[in-house]
This record gives sequence, structure tokens and C-alpha cells, in this order.
Amino acid sequence: MAYQAIIQQIYEKIKAEDNIGQAASYIPQLTAVDTNLFGIHLVTKNHQEYGIGDRYVKFSIQSIAKCLSLCVAYKLLGSQIWKRVGVEPSGTAFNSLTQLELDKGIPRNPFINGGAMVVADMLVSAFRHPEEEFLSFIREINGDNDISYNEHIVQSEKEIGYRNIAICNFIKSYGNLENHPERVLDFYFRICSIEMTCQELANTFLFLADDNFRNSKGEAVLNMSQAKRINALMQTCGFYDESGEFSFTVGLPGKSGVGGGIIAIFPDKYSIAVWSPKLNEKGNSYRGMRFLEQFTTQTESSIF
Ligand code: DON
Repeated sequence: MAYQAIIQQIYEKIKAEDNIGQAASYIPQLTAVDTNLFGIHLVTKNHQEYGIGDRYVKFSIQSIAKCLSLCVAYKLLGSQIWKRVGVEPSGTAFNSLTQLELDKGIPRNPFINGGAMVVADMLVSAFRHPEEEFLSFIREINGDNDISYNEHIVQSEKEIGYRNIAICNFIKSYGNLENHPERVLDFYFRICSIEMTCQELANTFLFLADDNFRNSKGEAVLNMSQAKRINALMQTCGFYDESGEFSFTVGLPGKSGVGGGIIAIFPDKYSIAVWSPKLNEKGNSYRGMRFLEQFTTQTESSIF
């Protein structure tokens, strides 16, 4: 497959079009990013790498990191985690409060903010140093010690985190948090503040495309059944109330973040990261969605 030529051709076409949307403004630090940056990186199961644009520039991966914290909890605690967080698409925004009340504090899925907070709570209970364990998990996957939290983003989110504080306390009121909401929120914001380049992101998620993937310790990240379930959740819940649209137009499991990043997985073939900071009205990268739609169309590489 001529991935490089196809990536280049779509990139140039989209670059020439209007860059529509807005960078996330509710996290002050994210508004400082140049909205013209646009990068793509694809890595195949056989470790062939292709890409273009600003693919070596670090950005805030935000909600994409929720997949990784979920993997840590799933690996450690197994299926019991599904008693405290659901596996159904929410059909609501990532920070919706109304649904949490209907669901009595059991978040609909692990990718809405409330779900990711419950997962963060599990890790706070399970580890003495959850922040270090989470970072080690990621670094062992891609062998890159340069991946870290961004303290400025953590502080920036804390300062304006009124809605997240409400969500976290709301869940606590239903008894679905073991730890103090402040401790859970601190770790949650830190998880979201992880920075990566498109190249690092694509390589970090390759384990979901390759059953034989081994981390730097020679271990599988998840077993096959677990990886299948994470991909299924990304397919059905990865884009909040635009998950149907992403399935419909792109046709791959994926996950977005308000930093403008998207990771998508073609199981058994490749993982691809796209980054462009301007978001559509649902909070997903405008150019990222457009790029992936055209990429899977031209390469005929949807899973459907
Ligand atoms: O909690 C928040 O609002 C952000 N840290 C993460 C939100 C996010 O990335 C939603 N994704 N599209």
C-alpha cells in the first residue's frame, strides 16, 4: 500500500482548504497553541512508519490518555472494573452531568470524563504512586522516556475545572469513588496532561493493532480478548456524541482529545495519529476527522 503518497496527497488537499473550528478555549493553556499545526503519523504492524507535517511536535493528548489509563486498570484488575463503569455509548457530551444522575453515579463508559475519573480512582487505590506507575506503563510501551505530564496544563485545568469538580463530587455522592475527589481529580488532570508527538502517539497505540506486540520488558500490554474490548469501546464511545459519525465516515476504532489529536486503529494493520488543534462543535479535531475520512476511503481500509 502506497501509504506515504496517499498521506501526502490528502494532507496537501486539506491544508489548502479553510481550517474551520476553534481550538479548545476552556483550558487556557490550550489556546496558546498555533492552530495551523497539522501532523500525521502512521505505523504499521511491521513497524514501517509514514507521515507528514508537524508530526514531531508535542501536544496535549487530553482524552486520548483515557484509553491508556483504562488499559492499566483493565490489565491490573480485570473484568471487575465493569461493575463501576459501563460500556455503552453515551450519546452526550464528554462532560455531561445529566446522564450521571440517571445512571446513579455509574458513568456510561470509561471515556466520558466521569468514567475516566472512576478509572483514575481505581488506580489511586491500587498503587502507592499512581502517577509514576502510569508514566512507566506508557514509557515501557514505546521505550521513550521523554513522555511526560505537562504541569502547566495540569494547573490550567485545575484553575477552571468547575465542571469536572462537580462531576467528581457527584460520583462520590453516589458512593462510586473510594478516594477523596480532590485526589482523584489531581490524578485525572495529570492523565489528561500527557504530551506526545504524532509519532509517539501512533507507536504507543500500536499494541491495539498487533497481537504480537511486546513492551520493553518483553510483555504483552493486554491479552487478545482485552485488546479487542478496548478497540470495541473506542469504536462505540471514542468520540462521545460524534462516535456514530466517526464510525460512519472513518470506520475504525479511534479516540479524540480536546488538544486536537485523534488516534485510530486498524486491527492487524496499523495505528495512525493525526493532530490539528481546531475542533468542530462536538470537540473533535476538524482536520483530523476530515483527514481520516479521506484516508480510509482512499486506502479502502475501514474495518467494515
Ligand atoms: O476534562 C477535560 O475536560 C479534559 N481534560 C479532557 C476532555 C477531552 O479531551 C474530551 N475529548 N475530546
